[in-house]
Amino acid sequence: MSLRPLHFNAFIWPNGYHESAWRLADDDVRNVLGLPYYADIARTAERGLLDSIFLADNIAIADYRATHLPQVQFDPIAVLSALAASTEHIGLIGTGSTTYNEPYELARRFATLDHLSGGRAGWNIVTTVTPLAAANFGERSHPDHADRYSRADEFVEVATRLWDSWADDAIVGDRDGGVWADRGKLRAPRFHGRFYDVEGVQPFPRSPQGRPVMVLAGQSGAGVRLAARHAEMAFSGPPSLEAAVAFRADLHAQAAALGRDPDQVLVLPALMVTLGGTEAEARSRAQRLEDLASSEFRWQNALYTAGLDPDGFDPDAPLPASLWEVPSPSTRTDQLYAAARARPDAPLREVAQEVRGGAGHTHFVGTPEQLADYIATWQDAGAVDGFTIMGSTIPHELTAFVDHVIPILQRRNRFRTDYAGSTLRGHLGLSRPSAP
Ligand SMILES: Cc1cc2nc3c(=O)[nH]c(=O)nc-3n(C[C@H](O)[C@H](O)[C@H](O)COP(=O)(O)O)c2cc1C
Repeated sequence: MSLRPLHFNAFIWPNGYHESAWRLADDDVRNVLGLPYYADIARTAERGLLDSIFLADNIAIADYRATHLPQVQFDPIAVLSALAASTEHIGLIGTGSTTYNEPYELARRFATLDHLSGGRAGWNIVTTVTPLAAANFGERSHPDHADRYSRADEFVEVATRLWDSWADDAIVGDRDGGVWADRGKLRAPRFHGRFYDVEGVQPFPRSPQGRPVMVLAGQSGAGVRLAARHAEMAFSGPPSLEAAVAFRADLHAQAAALGRDPDQVLVLPALMVTLGGTEAEARSRAQRLEDLASSEFRWQNALYTAGLDPDGFDPDAPLPASLWEVPSPSTRTDQLYAAARARPDAPLREVAQEVRGGAGHTHFVGTPEQLADYIATWQDAGAVDGFTIMGSTIPHELTAFVDHVIPILQRRNRFRTDYAGSTLRGHLGLSRPSAP
């Protein structure tokens, strides 16, 4: 059997994805506010030949989070632009909201990153779950789920037209004749849609990858439909192997029905990992993190990540049933409601324990050998093309992944032993879209 190469994306969350990670770190807590912290992590991921690093974007935070977690929601494109200078190969994927940006502006920033990094940019397209964002952007209310996804669809179309608004061979560079570029090779979007109006061309030539790699993590029907249309990498994925196989098959079938090649739609679900030299050591690391976890944080976070305001609820009472009489704002909300409905008399504080974790993902705890086996099993079942690795603590888990898991996968011929090219599309085996 010829194996398809695995792909890995490193989710960089300051100090690690587990909420207690920062309490186990032994350096100055302020280090996560400086570039050297991110540069070290990016270089570690690049040493492991990973496809990309990834930064999330939360454009509004609730105050309770400042008590419990490091708050470092920098502008991801700014951070990645700085990291472009301290790395050479690794892909740089940043999150950008289609609900709280203008397509002209965001498309320009991602294309800038693609130019400055020599073709390593990726865009994680999100519609933003938290309603707190609205008030930061002068909006009266947060658009509902369906509306956000309709906007996202049009937003991506406009962004694509902007990226394609210069032909690849538009630059002439004729110094003698005084012609920098051939204006006949510019094609202005002149887009007038339901939500957006964008007339003019991108203010610089087409970027090395033509378009940044398009990433999506939506899990709802609308989210998966958007991914089928645009995504070249999908982050989401259900926790069970069977459901993950079905998810990937459905996404591929929907993409194929739209005339896309399913091989150009990679699925890299997020997986939180805790690694140890022995299983006992890994378990004790995971237990230490859990022992430090706060139930105060957990119930507030379960509400917040479901798009609800924690300040309006009593943790010692059940969630009011009136909540699920109106349409739910997201998949995450559905998960919380399902947990609450299964135990109607349980207090919110207890129900919240069942929907823990920012994105509700599987937590793998074990040795590098066990993780390599797990990854191989999921790949062979057709559930994944790789994983988005979320270290429960960072840098420890990322370093262990690079130094111990990657070599095992290389020995088994499942992972590259060198970067073959220099662009993110090249690493992922994605074709470069031509400008129409
Ligand atoms: C790995 C991963 C990373 C995500 N990163 C972000 C993010 O940075 N910002 C954000 O607003 N949402 C983020 N999300 C949420 C998704 O974009 C999406 O809203 C969520 O998975 C629910 O799906 P739905 O919108 O289709 O209901 C992320 C989800 C996953 C699985």
